[in-house]
This record gives sequence, structure tokens and C-alpha cells, in this order.
Amino acid sequence: MTTPLAACKAFIFDAYGTLFDFGSAVARCADIPDNKRNELITIWRDKQLQYTWLRSLQKNYVNFEQVTADALDFALEATGLTDTARRQNLLDLYQTLSAYPEIPGTLAALKTKNITTAILSNGTPAMLKAAIDHSGIGLLIDHVLSVENVGIFKPAPEVYQLAVDTIGVRRDQICFISSNGWDAYSAAAFGFQVIWCNRSGQPAERLPGSPTIIMKNLSDILALTEP
Ligand code: LAC
Repeated sequence: MTTPLAACKAFIFDAYGTLFDFGSAVARCADIPDNKRNELITIWRDKQLQYTWLRSLQKNYVNFEQVTADALDFALEATGLTDTARRQNLLDLYQTLSAYPEIPGTLAALKTKNITTAILSNGTPAMLKAAIDHSGIGLLIDHVLSVENVGIFKPAPEVYQLAVDTIGVRRDQICFISSNGWDAYSAAAFGFQVIWCNRSGQPAERLPGSPTIIMKNLSDILALTEP
């Protein structure tokens, strides 16, 4: 299959929801009633993202660890699950999220083709290191790029520019991969080639930008790098 992705020199992955399953923290926390699990996951994630966008607009940056804790406090209260020990357990579990099953094999296959791999994420360097170490993919990632270096969250263009500046290739030679529709569309508007990994079957975003490819999971990436 010939795609514009065959010319890409670097494959850059979003972290949360794309490489790492943010729902796995709640899944591994024992003392949450089954009928509250999905609600807790959804509110925690929605608030976490909203706080990144709101703080960016407010020009009132705190790091993603703080945003994640603030969003969890909101979500626990909203679901009637506030408890100090449960809160700490969930924050600890967030440091060791599970990678999606296809990720190690996909990254290993990209490395056999000498393609540069990177993560570009809202996560702090410490959070990203913990998740990478936990999933054992450290040797398969060439660069770990955190918004900490620019002090604003995605989808600010400064974040995507960080990847261009660090890796030193043109925007259209970068393939950016995200499961978050808003991130995928924004990266495409910035000028990256984009794979939107639409894991949960979301409708198209009504935002500037247009992903190059949409796929359900990342198992088929390698075929896209063939000339
Ligand atoms: C990240 C969030 C957006 O890793 O998933 O940057």
C-alpha cells in the first residue's frame, strides 16, 4: 500500500489513551463498585483534559501530575467515592498504566526499519518514565518529549513544534499518532501526517485539520510504512 506515511522519518506517539490505557488504573483498583467504574474513568479523563485546556487559556500552568490529581478529586466527589486511601491508590496506579497489547510489537517493528520513534505528551517526564518502564518499551523509544519543556498543554502549536525542533525533520516528514481526536486533528492542522487511532469509534471532529489515516488500533501501522 502506498501512503504519504511511507516518506515519514519519525513516528511520534501520544501517550495516554494511545500507548497507555488510562482506564487501567481504575480497572486495577479493587475497592470501586462495578457500577461506578466507567463513570469514574470518564469523569476523571474528561476533567483532566478540560483542566489542561482551561489552564492553557488562563495562562496558569501546573504540571500534568497536578492536573491529574485535581481531576481525580473532582471525579471521586462527583461519583460519591471520595476517600484518602483510594485517591492515593489511584494516583499510584496511574503511574503504572498498562500499555495496549499491540504496542510493544508495533514499536519493535518500527525500530527494525530504523524509523525514529518518540512520545510527545502532556505527561511529566517522571510520569512518562514510570509508564514506559512499567511496560518495558524503553529501548523502543528514541525520544520522550514532555510539554514540561514549553509550559503549555496540547493542542498549543508550541507543543507540536517541540517535536520538530528536537527531532530535526520537517513537519510533513513526521507521522503523529493519537487516539484523541482533538489531538489528531490539531496535529494535522499543524502540518504533521497523522494517524488517528480511533479506538472507541468516535465521530469525526469538527475542527481544523484532517488525519491522513484512521485506524481502530495500531497493529496495522507497519504496512503503512511500506513504499
Ligand atoms: C497526552 C494526552 C493528551 O498523552 O493523552 O498528551
